[in-house]
Amino acid sequence: MAHDQVTTLRADGRWNGNVTSRPLPAGALDGLSAEERRTLSDAWLARASTERRVGLSFGVVHEALLKLDAPKTLCDLADRAIDDEMRHGELCRMVASHYAGKEVDLLPDLPFSYPPHEAASDALRPLLHVVGQCCFNETIASSFLETSVDAATDPLAKAALRELLSDEIDHGRIGWATLAAVPAPLRGQLQAWLLPLARGNLKMWRDASRPYPDSPAFEAHGAPGAARVEQALLTAFVGLIIPGMQALGFDVAPIQAWVSRGAPTNDDPSLYVAS
Ligand SMILES: [Fe+2]
Ligand SMILES: [Fe+2]
Repeated sequence: MAHDQVTTLRADGRWNGNVTSRPLPAGALDGLSAEERRTLSDAWLARASTERRVGLSFGVVHEALLKLDAPKTLCDLADRAIDDEMRHGELCRMVASHYAGKEVDLLPDLPFSYPPHEAASDALRPLLHVVGQCCFNETIASSFLETSVDAATDPLAKAALRELLSDEIDHGRIGWATLAAVPAPLRGQLQAWLLPLARGNLKMWRDASRPYPDSPAFEAHGAPGAARVEQALLTAFVGLIIPGMQALGFDVAPIQAWVSRGAPTNDDPSLYVAS
């Protein structure tokens, strides 16, 4: 049964084996039709699957940090993040169950892969995995969740989103702290990869399916609409990623120029290959 996967939560995890830092408030279902409840349950269950897949990414990030000889605190945080993402999966499944009005099982695990970055040197490749997952993906996730929290009004949805957000911020910091700690020559090799990583991550977020239509009712329950999501994605670049990279001494002009063109992600990917 799919619930077996839930028991993989670690007793030494962030909340000692608990799913959340504190008990979740009750959610309301008033005014939601049966179909809207089904849609919300599906949306939260789909989120559970992607959260769990990110847990596998953190297995890769953890190994990459060990290869980079990163500070132990960062290696430990990446190891904890594997469990964090499994907790996120369980939390989202619990919220999905609330909307369904009954316990729902996790969906079958999504296929997992990660970018091989074959053109990168052996020394750079692990850094690309850390930066791609943490500086880009988790920073974008934080912006997405922040806007989702702002739009949500239901107590349960809002609390669940806040729980996710508090971890994703930590996960993003793993990347920024790693970048600050690696030797300058290795950091310098990353310059040519910033734009390909930016485009690849943004494309993944834009292409992610939202199995619900735009609606204030769905936003109130943690499922933000397309315009709000797009705004959050661009805010992640303009407000967080570009300033972060600039503070670390990178030339951010190419990413800035790309963002000012609307950050296209459906153009020819070969235009973005690092050399
Ligand atoms: Fe997560
Ligand atoms: Fe995360």
